Amino acid sequence: MKVYIETYGCQMNEYDTELAVSLLEMHGYEVISVPEEADIALLNTCSVRENANRKVLARVHDLRHKANNGDLVIGILGCMATDYQEKLIDNIRLPINFIAGPDSYRRLPELIDQCLHFQNRLMDVTLSKTETYDGVVPVRTSGVNAWIAVMRGCNNFCSFCVVPYTRGRERSRSVQSVVDETRRIVRDGYPQVTLLGQNVNSYRHEDHDFAGLLEAVSAVDGIERIRFTSPHPKDFPDPLIRVMADHPKICKHIHLPLQAGNSRILELMRRTYTKEDYLRLVDKIRSHIPDVVLSTDIIVGFPTETDQEFKDTVDVVNKVRFDSAFIFKYSERDGTLAQKHFTDDVPEEVKTERIVTLNELQKSISLHKNRAHIGQVHDVLIEADSTKKSDKDIQGRNDGNKLVILPKKHHNIGDFVRAKITDASAHVLRGVVKNSDETRL
Ligand code: SAH
Ligand code: SF4
Ligand code: F3S
Repeated sequence: MKVYIETYGCQMNEYDTELAVSLLEMHGYEVISVPEEADIALLNTCSVRENANRKVLARVHDLRHKANNGDLVIGILGCMATDYQEKLIDNIRLPINFIAGPDSYRRLPELIDQCLHFQNRLMDVTLSKTETYDGVVPVRTSGVNAWIAVMRGCNNFCSFCVVPYTRGRERSRSVQSVVDETRRIVRDGYPQVTLLGQNVNSYRHEDHDFAGLLEAVSAVDGIERIRFTSPHPKDFPDPLIRVMADHPKICKHIHLPLQAGNSRILELMRRTYTKEDYLRLVDKIRSHIPDVVLSTDIIVGFPTETDQEFKDTVDVVNKVRFDSAFIFKYSERDGTLAQKHFTDDVPEEVKTERIVTLNELQKSISLHKNRAHIGQVHDVLIEADSTKKSDKDIQGRNDGNKLVILPKKHHNIGDFVRAKITDASAHVLRGVVKNSDETRL
């Protein structure tokens, strides 16, 4: 039986797809990359904003329509499954056979098997307090970066966010199991590991916290780059800053979601920090790690956000000068505290105005910060042939996670090169490889 999988949403979902592939291959399924030849098509979905859902529903009809195989089994995995539950599976206009939430992947082979033999629609959206898929070795395909989910779930219940409902409560893997997995990654030839969690600095296992985990992973022989995402600004403790500053293998990039710059809005969002707390944290991080690259997520148009309050977000963006930012319009999600307590009352045009303002501001800051790298020499890990126009280029990332485009020579994916930055846009750096020391670092 041939299975085709598409992945939407965040890195955690990409990792979960690798787990699902592993579990399916263990049970004799073959995973293929073209839907037309599949017996089973799975969509690993995201529910964080309304437009993520729309894309998936359109795709389900598209797959059914294009399928050569009239018996194609279609399954919805991931966050839409736990978010919508019966609304998905009982909707007879949706041509799907089963849904399975993020904690149900061990049952995938069984669910598919039942769908193949019986006609009824199936659902498993049970959330677990303990499932971490410890012991399931993901089937990794990226070549350079290996993900490890060190914790799953979220207990924060930010008022806008559906994730605590779609992924359940926080639980962490043991330090030993993450270290063992990192050793395996090194043996498999990966230079980089990214530790994942919805809320990675809530990591707790016995008396180990996230700083301790990072330190243990840094001690693994042969791992060359360590990244993590996403930390929550409410707990970014001093020991974590120190571990980052002290260990050269830990990349100096922090994705630190701001969400809003106004303290009243932050309180309504239940983020548990104020504008001033956030600015103080950034100052502290920069005083210990001066060249740190900072990126963020921002939501505009949260219910009741006034123009004046939005200016606080602009103010934080101006003060912090993030290297990059993902900016979203508030999207009301059923069942969240914000949906229960507020009306989605900021008009669409105002949300658009605010997102345009912030995107333009951020673009000019990103451009300025990227151009400041011109003339510097960066260590670049080659990731792929360049996806930009030219086949004469390759691309990689510097320590700060910025994309660097280089002329293609005899380098291989996974090589480290020292590159002199020669040009920059708001989104990418361009460079040339320094000839004298092209070897692996
Ligand atoms: N766990 C991560 C966030 C995961 S969701 C964290 O806490 O940082 C990724 C981003 O989507 C969030 O940071 C937020 O900016 C955005 N987001 C989440 N819910 C949203 C909503 N209802 N409307 C618009 N953006 C949302
Ligand atoms: Fe959502 Fe907040 Fe949890 Fe992030 S920390 S996943 S934004 S509830
Ligand atoms: Fe989306 Fe679920 Fe990730 S809602 S952002 S796929 S945790």
